Amino acid sequence: MSVNSSQLHNSETIVTMASNGTAHEPVFLVFGRSGWIGGLLGELLKQQGARFEYATSRLEDRAGILAEIERVKPTHVLNAAGMTGRPNVDWCEDHKVETIRANVIGCLNLADVCTQQGIHMTYYGTGCIFHYDDEFKIGGKGFKESDKPNFTGSYYSYTKAMVESLLKEYPNVLTLRVRMPIVPSLTYPRNFITKIIKYDKVVNIPNSMTVLTELLPYSIEMAKRKLTGIMNFTNPGAISHNEILELYKQYIDPEFTWQNFTIEEQAKVIVAPRSNNLLDTTRIESEFPGILPIKDSLVKYVFEPNALQKEEVRAAQLAAKSRATTCRPGNATQMFTLAMRSARVPCREQLWGLAAL
Ligand SMILES: NC(=O)c1ccc[n+]([C@@H]2O[C@H](COP(=O)([O-])OP(=O)(O)OC[C@H]3O[C@@H](n4cnc5c(N)ncnc54)[C@H](OP(=O)(O)O)[C@@H]3O)[C@@H](O)[C@H]2O)c1
Repeated sequence: MSVNSSQLHNSETIVTMASNGTAHEPVFLVFGRSGWIGGLLGELLKQQGARFEYATSRLEDRAGILAEIERVKPTHVLNAAGMTGRPNVDWCEDHKVETIRANVIGCLNLADVCTQQGIHMTYYGTGCIFHYDDEFKIGGKGFKESDKPNFTGSYYSYTKAMVESLLKEYPNVLTLRVRMPIVPSLTYPRNFITKIIKYDKVVNIPNSMTVLTELLPYSIEMAKRKLTGIMNFTNPGAISHNEILELYKQYIDPEFTWQNFTIEEQAKVIVAPRSNNLLDTTRIESEFPGILPIKDSLVKYVFEPNALQKEEVRAAQLAAKSRATTCRPGNATQMFTLAMRSARVPCREQLWGLAAL
C-alpha cells in the first residue's frame, strides 16, 4: 500500500514509501554541526536511530556539496547553518559580506543543488522578519506564512527576509520560521530565558517563541512528510518577558526580581533594532494538533523539570552569572566556555541545552 502526503496530513507518524511501494529509510545530511540547532538535530536523529551524517562542506561550496551528496546519498537535507553573529546579531552589521555569503548565497546555493538533485531541504530560518505595526498590533492578529516581511531593521533580518522570499520559489524547500528559541537548560547562554534572567533590564513585549525541545522533533517529521513552503515554527500564542520571569519566580526562585525598560532605552545598549511579533500558527497546528500553547510548553519542558532541582539551578545560575561578569563585555565565546564549564553542564547533550540542567 502506498502512502501519499494528503493521507499523512494530521498524522503524527509516518512510513516513507518509495514509488514502487517498498518502504525506504530516510537519510539525512545535516548542515550546522557546530551550531546550536544543528547540534540538537544530530542528538535527536541519533536518539531516533535515524540514518544521518553531518555535512562538512561550506554552504557556498557547490562542488563540495555535490561531492558530499554523491557520497552520502541523502533523501533529506536539514540546513541549520547560517551566520547568526557573536555575541549576537549586531555582529552582522559590521560583517555584511560574510553575512550575505552564508545567509543568502550559501543558503540559496544549497537549496539550488538540492532541487537539481531532487532532495528535500528543510531550512531553519527565522521569524524575526516581522514587527508589530498599525495593522498587526500587540494582542491582535498574527503574521501568516503568506505575509510579506515588514522588519529589516537589522542586517541579519534583512538577509533572512531576502532569502526567504527567494527560497519560496523552490518546490522542494521547507522554510521554518524559528523565533527566540528555548531549551530546558537555564544556564545555556543562548537560551532566550537564560538571557532575560541574566540581563539587568528587559523590555516587556509579548512574542512568539519556539520551544526547541517540543518543536525540533516536529521539524524532522515535517521533513519526512516532505512539507514545503513556509511554516511559522513557533508554539501557538505569545508570551511576554515579564510572564516568563514570573514563571521563573514561581517555579525556581521566589526572591527573583527584575527591572523593565522601554524599547527606546533598549536601543541605547544594542546596535540594530530587534523584532517583536506574533506569528499565526494555524499551519503548524493543522499538522500537529497536539502542539502546546507557548505557556504550557514552557511549563512542561522548562519550568517543571527545573523545579525538581531548583537549588542546583539557582546555584548554577549564580555561578554562570558571576563568572560571566568577569569576562570582557561582549566576549560571548569566553562566556559560553565559562558557562559550559559550570558543574551542571558537563556533557555534549547538555552543551546544546537539551538536558534539563
Ligand atoms: N539561535 C537563535 O536565536 C535563532 C533564532 C531564530 C532563528 N535561528 C536560525 O536557525 C539557524 C541555526 O541557528 P543556530 O542558533 O543553531 O546557529 P549557530 O549556533 O550560530 O550555528 C550556525 C552554524 O552554521 C554554520 N555555518 C555558518 N556559516 C556557514 C557556511 N558558510 N557554511 C557552512 N556552515 C556555516 C556554523 O559553522 P561554523 O562555526 O563552522 O561556521 C554553525 O555550525 C540559523 O539560520 C538561524 O538564523 C536562530
